[in-house]
Amino acid sequence: MNLQHVDIHNAITALSCALDFVGVDEVRHGKRVAFMARAIAERLGWPETECLSILYGGMLHDCGVSRIHEHRRLTETLEWDGAEDHCLRGADYLSACLPLAHLAAEIRYHHTRWIKLLELPVEQRVRLRANLLFLADRIDVLQAPFLNSGAILTEYQGIIARIKTLSGTLFAPELVEAFAEIADVEAFWLAMEPEYLDEDLRDIGSQIPTAMLDISALKELARLFSRVVDAKTPYTDEHSQRVAQISRQLAADFGLENYDLEQVEIAGLLHDIGKLRVSEDIIEKPGGLTPTERATMHRHSYDTFRILQRVFSDSKIPIWAGFHHETLNGEGYPFKSSHKELDLECRIIAVADIFQALAQERPYRHTMSLQYILDNMQSRVAAGQLDAAVVAKLTENAERYYRLAVA
Ligand SMILES: [Fe+2]
Ligand SMILES: [Fe+2]
Ligand SMILES: [Fe+2]
Repeated sequence: MNLQHVDIHNAITALSCALDFVGVDEVRHGKRVAFMARAIAERLGWPETECLSILYGGMLHDCGVSRIHEHRRLTETLEWDGAEDHCLRGADYLSACLPLAHLAAEIRYHHTRWIKLLELPVEQRVRLRANLLFLADRIDVLQAPFLNSGAILTEYQGIIARIKTLSGTLFAPELVEAFAEIADVEAFWLAMEPEYLDEDLRDIGSQIPTAMLDISALKELARLFSRVVDAKTPYTDEHSQRVAQISRQLAADFGLENYDLEQVEIAGLLHDIGKLRVSEDIIEKPGGLTPTERATMHRHSYDTFRILQRVFSDSKIPIWAGFHHETLNGEGYPFKSSHKELDLECRIIAVADIFQALAQERPYRHTMSLQYILDNMQSRVAAGQLDAAVVAKLTENAERYYRLAVA
């Protein structure tokens, strides 16, 4: 098992799929923004590296949005007073992630009007890049109602005309001009189809020199995405980070070392990434879920598994993370795997997930005492759900694990 084949293009592309889930009924927003921004940059003759990094900026530009409600507000009108929040959040996440920190400044200003940007003490390069993301983002909002129906071909002239009226105020004139030139053909709009976007992204990936991420860079990327997921509701604040720490410590107590510990930690950080697709109305619902809501909730670990398979195809991280709701008796989900198929690492993450969740306040209950939590874990062992040895290890050092679980 190794992580030698994780290149940055592949990782960003795959992880951006999780961000795109936040749109729920309007997925792939990030990828369309990325492609439009890159096409405009190419038209302007920007160097290849700049064109490529604006593609990544586009895919990640909404990393500050984890809530479906916020995503909706951002797509309702061209300008929304609350837009600033996700720019600040996104820039904060990115600046803490070394491999992507260079994108923080442009994400910070990707909803700032051009005339305002000119007054701010920002580098001209950053101004243009931020404004290019803003432009592509708003074009996507205008085209969104016509996607999937083919109606875009009768509407795109209107979109170009509308954008032109915003030149010099919302958007830099040179960007609007370049957009108007390249968008005046059907092909520009038809390329937005999901399967074409995926194809084009694969093509770009195969044409650029691969830049491999080392384990510490991967962990930073995983931490960034864990913050996006945990920000989904106040009830899950730091949940993924804490599950990762507890899992790592448990794995160490079982004698795992170095590289394996890093992988367990990454799996812990990303175990709930599929939750970006679940509406916060369901996650925050006090009281019981309807069968349909429960089914929506239950798909998150499968989505986690699929997303991570695209990033970590040569490692067991997708399994360790995606199997965190499997149980030893085979009654978990979504694979109904049983004890024979569950690695120690899967069992560890399942225990850490429940332990941390019980220690944290939830919409339907308060926090619980350590003794209550341990009793609860024991009853899950007795019911054939959790691994007895893992729970025993945790119980041996219960105080230490509890400190890892709560702030
Ligand atoms: Fe956006
Ligand atoms: Fe989960
Ligand atoms: Fe979880």
